[in-house]
Amino acid sequence: MYLMKDITRDGNPVLRKRAAKVEFPLSKEEQDLAKNMMKYLEVSQDPELCEKYKLRAGVGLAAPQVGVSKQMAAVLVPPLEGDDKSDGKPLFKDVIINPVIVSESVQYAALTEGEGCLSVDKDVPGYVPRHDRITLRYQDVNGETHQIRLKNYPAIVCQHEIDHLHGMLFYDHINKEHPFEAPEDTIMIS
Ligand code: NI
Repeated sequence: MYLMKDITRDGNPVLRKRAAKVEFPLSKEEQDLAKNMMKYLEVSQDPELCEKYKLRAGVGLAAPQVGVSKQMAAVLVPPLEGDDKSDGKPLFKDVIINPVIVSESVQYAALTEGEGCLSVDKDVPGYVPRHDRITLRYQDVNGETHQIRLKNYPAIVCQHEIDHLHGMLFYDHINKEHPFEAPEDTIMIS
């Protein structure tokens, strides 16, 4: 399982590279990578285990963040607090491989609290404008293609992870002069 020491940090050139496309079937190493990235997210979202292994809780982890420049990212977005209809089912959970955003809304959304990243140790305040809705196409670990529509928080998380595969970090999107200025009509998500 990955620990914080395994996570590449801002300044490591792997985080600024364009990750390579993944071929199928996955190699044993790539299968393990997928499993271990998802495992990190699961363990990090368990408050006791998170504390025990001194992890930072995360909802997404991209391969470059563990030093592998390939187009793979684990995403685990837990159900919204107080949503009894979810039955504890995550809003989105999968390892997305070779992901492509095939369409996106004109409407922007941003998290009120700004974004964070396991690879960025310091807090970078400011709004990160994202597309509120996206259509995402990706392959899963079996090479099966999925095309799904996501909105709000899960859409933001996937855009953050896909950025990692293109060598981008969340703060690249923050307005340098006016960090708390978002495009007009941006939906604020708390
Ligand atoms: Ni990140």
